[in-house]
Amino acid sequence: MLSKRSKTAQTAAAQPDVAGPRHVAIIMDGNGRWAQKKGKIRTFGHKAGVESVRSVVRFARESGVESLTLFAFSSENWKRPEEEVSVLMELFNFVLNNEVKRLHKNDVRLKVIGDTSAFDEKLRTKIQKAEALTEQNSALVLNIAANYGGRWDITHAAKLMAQDVLDGKQQLDAIDESHFGQYICTAGLPELDLLIRTGGERRISNFLLWQCAYAELYFTDTLWPDFDEKVFQTAVDDFKARQRRFGLTGEQVSVP
Ligand code: FPP
Repeated sequence: MLSKRSKTAQTAAAQPDVAGPRHVAIIMDGNGRWAQKKGKIRTFGHKAGVESVRSVVRFARESGVESLTLFAFSSENWKRPEEEVSVLMELFNFVLNNEVKRLHKNDVRLKVIGDTSAFDEKLRTKIQKAEALTEQNSALVLNIAANYGGRWDITHAAKLMAQDVLDGKQQLDAIDESHFGQYICTAGLPELDLLIRTGGERRISNFLLWQCAYAELYFTDTLWPDFDEKVFQTAVDDFKARQRRFGLTGEQVSVP
């Protein structure tokens, strides 16, 4: 999927008739505060957040986004109270049990990115089955980042690449950024165009560090359970109004 479009995206994105983002990632933040504002426990917010996941998948698919990457559980989230971690695991199981059929029917390919070795075997098997079932789907790639960290992704890629060097499959001198990128979790997908973070914080929180190199960042105060197609559309419109320069000057990229 590293297509012709991907190679031309750098210049095409700066044109006035700029296309929408091909790859969007979202840090789904604010579930706990949303629940607390309603006088409920934090996990109520996570459960409500599943509905927002459904609506962004629908929106992404209908608006021509090719890849959607959602930060569901970070490597650091294990440190949350035990009960909250267990509700998040239940929700992950729930999504795998109840949503995969619908995703498949809608031609969505599901992938889980992150260190899945930390999950129990039952969950790992469910992940593998869902990925295998939806493997050929092409309307949208939905990446769920679970036990994911940007530094983990880079370290993991470095280890895989080092192994290939040791095995003689990769020449040390030939390694460049594009070679290295092939070992990163999102390899083969379009470059990340737009990173959205809900919930008011303005940081990346160890999400897609490698992939963010030239992504446009969009921060909204909307708490995740309130995030819907309308807010998503606002973020996309904002993205389309930006001039992406990729290190060039404004004059260079606006030449027809
Ligand atoms: C951050 O809000 C959100 C999470 C850590 C979990 C996101 C999970 C879901 C939306 C549900 C499950 C989704 C899938 C795809 C399985 P927070 O708790 O940090 O909110 P706060 O900043 O208000 O405390």
